[in-house]
Amino acid sequence: MLTTVPRGTKDILPADIGAWRYLENTMRDICARFGYEEIRTPIFEHTELFQRGIGDTTDVVEKEMYTFTDRGERSLTLRPENTASVVRAYVEHKLYAENSPTKLFYIGPMFRYDRPQAGRYRQFHQFGVEALGAVGPNIDAEIIILAVTVLQSLGLKDLKLKINSVGCPKCRPEHRNRLQEFFKPKFNELCKDCQSRFDRNPLRILDCKVPHCGELSVGAPSLGECLCEECSSHFEKLKELLTSAGLTYEVDTNLVRGLDYYTRTAFEIQYTPLGAQSAVCGGGRYDGLVKEVGGPETPGIGFAMGMERILLALESQNLIPDTNFSTDVYAICTNEENFSLTFKTVIDLRREGLKAEFDFNGRSMKAQMKQANRYNAKYVLIFGEDEVKNGKVVLRDMLNSDQKEIDLKDITTILKAEVQNNE
Ligand code: HAM
Repeated sequence: MLTTVPRGTKDILPADIGAWRYLENTMRDICARFGYEEIRTPIFEHTELFQRGIGDTTDVVEKEMYTFTDRGERSLTLRPENTASVVRAYVEHKLYAENSPTKLFYIGPMFRYDRPQAGRYRQFHQFGVEALGAVGPNIDAEIIILAVTVLQSLGLKDLKLKINSVGCPKCRPEHRNRLQEFFKPKFNELCKDCQSRFDRNPLRILDCKVPHCGELSVGAPSLGECLCEECSSHFEKLKELLTSAGLTYEVDTNLVRGLDYYTRTAFEIQYTPLGAQSAVCGGGRYDGLVKEVGGPETPGIGFAMGMERILLALESQNLIPDTNFSTDVYAICTNEENFSLTFKTVIDLRREGLKAEFDFNGRSMKAQMKQANRYNAKYVLIFGEDEVKNGKVVLRDMLNSDQKEIDLKDITTILKAEVQNNE
């Protein structure tokens, strides 16, 4: 127990960090291009925020939240997603009083008590964006294009973009009635959860993970058949904009998202080779959420991507650039008398902005050379006994094995220039 991580969580080791940084940097760069600014909200929030925001008939709220009571008897929950928190922050800090739309992004860990498997974890990371305060389909198109741009910039192909409209409070009652009519004769065959969803929120039956409920849902009336005029025209304009931006998409009238706050546009991007956990991105519009959380009526739309799933996809396609740890200079000390000088040189080089390393364990010269290779050092400085006596040191270029003697006083200037020239 003491030496294993909790089920569904993972360590991200130094060897993996390069890939994570690469992913995060790509996401940050593209957000900057699209004008989205970063927001960081707490890892835990009041439980009620998620119950109200995500909806208490969803699997996420009913079964997957890490909820605990703190020492002050407050019910808190580790965030299972970040949209509700961003909306809470938007209301709390009155961001709606600033420039509209407010365009935000985030990267961070989320927590769901899910059944762990490849691509499904209990602590996972999402990159997400949220745009608040724009009502028209242009922002829907921008958000979807942003998501596709991120995935394409990483080199992923075989992406499937699915879009749907899940209607609004005006057209939903009609769909709800039709769904109840459809499921009434099958009621006894539904799982216990779906039987309770039948009255509370029959749309959720379509999203049930129990296979038999999935079979019973085949042929269920789709929302598309019940959309009001405004929702239909919003959806038509969105499709036009996506087409004009050159995106290929599939309209999937069965696309139901797992969270209750969605209105109108809903979308998912799948990376099909990932199989069961192929959804790498999911999002949609949530025009009622800001009000639900206590703010002024404000439309919103966003998405989140599962970063572990994207990394799995990139690894399978060899799309992660080489990010081996490397140092600029490794300083080798051959006798104890020269150690202080070696140490001071390394510290000076670091002060000048170079990556410099030395040996901590009094290793032999051969073993230090090996260490230098392990660090992928570009240069090695050898503080040999005779050379140091003459005010010199050996500088070795590890790429072509060229060696030369340089004056001790010139070390920093020469190395800075060499490293810069090779960048
Ligand atoms: P979601 O569909 O629940 O939406 O999650 C978005 C993405 O997070 C999924 O497509 C998947 O890639 C990843 N994901 C979800 N659960 C797990 C898990 N257990 N392990 C690994 N990855 C996972 C949301 O969370 C919404 N907040 C998205 C959104 C933002 N909608 C509007 N704005």
